[in-house]
Amino acid sequence: MNSAEWKEKLLSIRKGFFDSAVKSNASNINAFETEYLGRKGFLTLLLRDLKDFSLEEKKLLGHLGNTLKSEIANKLSELKNKFGSVSSPSGIKNDFDLTLPAYPYSKGSLHPITQTINKITEIFLKLGFSVAEGPFIENEYYNFEALNIPEDHSSRDMHDTFYSDIKDSKNKDLLLRTHTSPVQIRTMEKLKPPLRIISPGRVFRRDAIDASHSFVFYQIEGFYVDRNVSMADLKWTLETFIKELFGEKAKLRFRPSYFPFVEPGAEVDMSCVFCPPIGNDKKGKCPVCKDTGWIEVLGAGVIHPKVLKSCGYDSDKWSGFAFGAGIERFAMLLFGIKDMRVLYENDLRILKQL
Ligand code: DAH
Repeated sequence: MNSAEWKEKLLSIRKGFFDSAVKSNASNINAFETEYLGRKGFLTLLLRDLKDFSLEEKKLLGHLGNTLKSEIANKLSELKNKFGSVSSPSGIKNDFDLTLPAYPYSKGSLHPITQTINKITEIFLKLGFSVAEGPFIENEYYNFEALNIPEDHSSRDMHDTFYSDIKDSKNKDLLLRTHTSPVQIRTMEKLKPPLRIISPGRVFRRDAIDASHSFVFYQIEGFYVDRNVSMADLKWTLETFIKELFGEKAKLRFRPSYFPFVEPGAEVDMSCVFCPPIGNDKKGKCPVCKDTGWIEVLGAGVIHPKVLKSCGYDSDKWSGFAFGAGIERFAMLLFGIKDMRVLYENDLRILKQL
């Protein structure tokens, strides 16, 4: 191709463009643009042919080609403006279509542990309990001594405690609370019986992380002090609670156990709500209860008279029950989670489903 032929081609492209521009509309404008200015568009290909011309010719023809290119681009943007603009109902031209739906945005949701605490709390509020809180940083008096766990007592070993080397004003070691039971003492010191209290919150133990352990986890403490409170009141309260949480079918089993702050004490199991596993009624298959039919859910008992006395209560006049449960266990049962770590990793893909 010589330079005359190139110019002729340029003119015919120009004519072709402006002739068709009249026919363009909102639905074909993009295709029209590609036809001329796209990577394989008429003008793009013609400009590419310039590589075979001399430097002089390149300068001249290139100038002509680029002029047409901006002419076309201007026209296209003029047309796009025309097609793109929408008139609002008031007749005012504007470039936004206010009738289009807004971009979707995702709403936040409550963490499954928070949801579980809320559910449990609601049930106990209906039973006449109130919520109390206690500090995460405790001293050894509230965390152990007042709960009848003396120094050097082996039951202190059950709690792998995070101690600090700081002492408080009463010369007691400061530590991170290993359970929510100290809230019993703090509340009884402040308030007179009768009392019905629950206290959910974080607790800390020197445990390695695995599918069922963490060094920070949640417990809920509950206790009731009044005249003539007995083990029967404890059983009724816990059974009512567990049926509210997991449905009428859920049953409880009490096994005698030892906790220094209660006497008698019990470990409480719930009947496995996953048994028989769905789609499989054969033995040997339940991953939750390992086919025992029972899941351990809490510790409980009748408050030890020594504990009442250490709070200034007359233990001949008042009696009470107490219980403590891990919240994660309930969250895992409610949401069908097998590995506790899922609750702490905050993977949004998981949190969004719960
Ligand atoms: N504090 C106990 C623990 O962390 C749980 C517990 C057991 C609490 C028995 C109680 C109770 O109030 O009566 O293992």
